[in-house]
Amino acid sequence: MVESYSQNANHNMRRPVVKEDIVEMMRTRQAQNKGFLKELEDFARRENIPIIPHETVAYFRLLMQTLQPQHILEIGAAIGYSALLMAENSPHSQISTIERNPEMLSFARENLKQFDRRKQINLLEGEALEILPELPDDHFDFVFMDSAKSKYIVFLPEVLKKVKVGGLIVIDDVFQGGDVVKDISEIRRGQRTIYRGLQKLFDATLDNPHLTASLLSISDGLLMLRKNVENVHLEIEEI
Ligand SMILES: C[S@@+](CC[C@H](N)C(=O)[O-])C[C@H]1O[C@@H](n2cnc3c(N)ncnc32)[C@H](O)[C@@H]1O
Repeated sequence: MVESYSQNANHNMRRPVVKEDIVEMMRTRQAQNKGFLKELEDFARRENIPIIPHETVAYFRLLMQTLQPQHILEIGAAIGYSALLMAENSPHSQISTIERNPEMLSFARENLKQFDRRKQINLLEGEALEILPELPDDHFDFVFMDSAKSKYIVFLPEVLKKVKVGGLIVIDDVFQGGDVVKDISEIRRGQRTIYRGLQKLFDATLDNPHLTASLLSISDGLLMLRKNVENVHLEIEEI
């Protein structure tokens, strides 16, 4: 039994922003996982561990096979599922993935030991805010941010230093189950920090000439950012 995630975790995944029958089709008709990825997916679903949903898996396969990034950074490894998916689909990539939850880390260590057959993945154990400054600047071609949503805007300035010009940053779960388009007065108090963090993220990125931004309605929303210049200026409002 996994203790980190209750049955109510990942609540926004059950509030799809796309018609439910389309989501269902995306999850059932796109090629399914096989082998160890299927085992890890089934385990995570059973234990309510919030791994990427199947429509994101299909999209990541395509992205990885097409882009074949040299250096990938992930924030939020959980059990190592998305890192292993990226490794499988981009066999020459080196992947650094950050995780701080001790329970998730013990699963991730074990899964990487068993399934990272080409030794592509480096698990960085600890708090992302402390680990990020230690990583080399101008190094990564692809970043997947899949951690606490309110913190994306806090991590982004540091992440941008680590990405090469032309590199792609993918940020997961940015629609907050549709709450992001509502007024803050309609948002439950416990969700307002996330709401504010996501609004700051949108304000700083969507119309920023130093970045090319695109929002995709896959999973609970993906924000894709291309770094266009060496020094990206982000305007982050203090709220
Ligand atoms: C949604 S899960 C990651 C799922 C994984 N990317 C997948 O799809 O297989 C988010 C993970 O981020 C980790 N996390 C959240 N905030 C973090 C932080 N500040 N530093 C390091 N890890 C963090 C959590 O412990 C959790 O395991």
